[in-house]
Amino acid sequence: MADIDALVAELTRAEKLSLVRGTTDPEGTATGYLPGVPRLDIPPLRLVDGPLGIRAEGGRATAFPATLATAATFDTDLARQQGAATAREARAHDQDALLAPGVNILRVPHCGRNFEYLSEDPVLASGLSRALVAGIESEDVIATVKHFVANNQETHRTTVSADVDERTLRELYLPPFRAAVEAGVGSVMTAYNRVNGTHMSDHERLVGDVLKDEWGFAGYVVSDWYGLESTVGAANAGLDVEMPGVPSGPDDPGEEFEWPDGIPDGSRAGLFGDPLADAIDHGSVPARRLDEMVRRVLGQLARIGLLDDRDRPGELDTDRHRDLARAVAARGTVLLDNDGVLPLADDADVALIGPHIYDAKLGGGGSSETTPFHSVSPADGVTARADGAVATARGIPEIENVSLFDLLPFVDSGHEADDDSGHEADPSLDDAIAAAEDADIAVVAVRDATTEARDRDSLALPGRQNELIEAVAAANDRTVVVLRTGGPVETPWREDVAAVVEQWYPGQADGAALADVLYGDRDPSGRLPVTFAPEESYPASDERRFPGEDGVAHYDEGVFVGYRHFDAEDDEPIYPFGHGHSYTTFEYGDATAVGDATVEVAVENVGERAGREVVQAYVRPPAVEGIDRPEREFAGAQPVRLDAGESRTVTLDLDELAFTRYSDGWTVDDGRYTVEVGRSVADVRSTVSIER
Ligand code: GLC
Repeated sequence: MADIDALVAELTRAEKLSLVRGTTDPEGTATGYLPGVPRLDIPPLRLVDGPLGIRAEGGRATAFPATLATAATFDTDLARQQGAATAREARAHDQDALLAPGVNILRVPHCGRNFEYLSEDPVLASGLSRALVAGIESEDVIATVKHFVANNQETHRTTVSADVDERTLRELYLPPFRAAVEAGVGSVMTAYNRVNGTHMSDHERLVGDVLKDEWGFAGYVVSDWYGLESTVGAANAGLDVEMPGVPSGPDDPGEEFEWPDGIPDGSRAGLFGDPLADAIDHGSVPARRLDEMVRRVLGQLARIGLLDDRDRPGELDTDRHRDLARAVAARGTVLLDNDGVLPLADDADVALIGPHIYDAKLGGGGSSETTPFHSVSPADGVTARADGAVATARGIPEIENVSLFDLLPFVDSGHEADDDSGHEADPSLDDAIAAAEDADIAVVAVRDATTEARDRDSLALPGRQNELIEAVAAANDRTVVVLRTGGPVETPWREDVAAVVEQWYPGQADGAALADVLYGDRDPSGRLPVTFAPEESYPASDERRFPGEDGVAHYDEGVFVGYRHFDAEDDEPIYPFGHGHSYTTFEYGDATAVGDATVEVAVENVGERAGREVVQAYVRPPAVEGIDRPEREFAGAQPVRLDAGESRTVTLDLDELAFTRYSDGWTVDDGRYTVEVGRSVADVRSTVSIER
């Protein structure tokens, strides 16, 4: 391993500064770039988006499902595989650091980036964060966990202050980042927002004291793009690298450009250039701080083999990556309702209806956009799988797509729009109704449209999709609705249809994974990582909380986010956390405790077909005078595949976070903890006590 200290000692001041401030990649592929120091054989460092696949300018890569779909598998091993595969594709594109995973808690159901994140629950989000990071890092690519911290909305994201108490930070918002550090993440990206009034890039307590000192994070802290608030404040708080470091703006520099809400001012670049040199010369930033910044960067280059020319071949669009993209999409698909209409008979005559049935739903808008080599639309996938007739109809006009890049006329997303011509010109609702009337089954595929830098203004399906669903359901009482959304949506027609399936954003394998589940080739094993409820019932429905007032989002719901809130309000959501049906039936034995942090339970598949269950555990703490705790907290899950008639004892290791609470330090109250084991937060099959 290179002698970092010796290298730092040899570097000139100018060379050190070149290692902490981004510049333009001469090859034009990287999202962020550090030029290296050829004189000392220090190679460049290339950073690239994103959580759903590689967005290398002009390059194509596997479009994996949105990480919210990965989360819906509750399968950390699968998440690790996805992390590793994405990292291999980064290397194939000659990139060294992946700007992923995004692990912010789903506090606001409208948030435009929920699709890039993991869960409303900190234990589930932490387990997946740990797995994704471990997968990425296992391929000698630097993972970049983001956006540190409390970046839970896109509205006013570059100015809003998240006012959140210490207990809530510790118990809810920080754990997924702490898990990433424990998994060896090489980089942490600070968020655009403020926390309790201080900009995250200047946040000495959270970046310096908590992340670096308390957790022992040894990698580098990188700003979000144009997300540096100051030179001195950031350097002294613990920021190590400014990205992208070079200004961006309209081609005509003289043009007055009004930066839209949620878009950082691209002219604010170079704060870690001369201004940092001046700050050091004037003593407001110690020279040793620059050395530490450089040491942290070089330490990561050394760790991934960049300083010793380690062979790091990549892998791009291989069969195993395509198969993995399809498996994650299918495994993350959640069967929300089913009256028995699913799985489809091979020979069923199907009417496939929806404004976007001819294009795969790859992901949401923004920096996570990926351009795949190929993709499978719902129409392609269902037509290829069906033995019966498949009639297709759009029914209504397409939903307006949204993307961050539409707000930045001078930035190329690098995203190549697929050619979507060659299908029926003007959609006709009558045609869709006629197709539904003539078919055994009507499948209506609908979607929302979300993007970085914008939050949804409603949880209703956009456009005339609800109208389409109602019209088709009236024409055929065996109607299946397939949701492709970046988070919870309202389902006013759910009592009028035979089945509801949630695919999230399934990525390139879209139609193939959909057919896998609709025809029962794969059991729908997805479970909800986020609660579906009426829009006004979420804790964030209070404007003081979201989008906030006078620049402040008040997190005064505290730890009561998601199912914790609905439990506390005794308010039954539409589809609860952890919910998801299978095509078979599972029965549970009596759970038993093994020690004080593990439970075991026998699970049997009593149905006629193989299936995959996600066995879940929740911990109910003892009541403590004056302490307001959630009624129960998710403590872990174990996916298990069982053939018809097969029974297996499943072991669940309970995350300590579900037992502890934070009050000027972590504490576990003495007393009896009830562990609930079952299929969801609302479907408990067995309980067992653990004394602490
Ligand atoms: C964006 C995003 C971040 C992304 C970065 C580079 O603004 O917030 O997630 O990795 O800039 O594109």
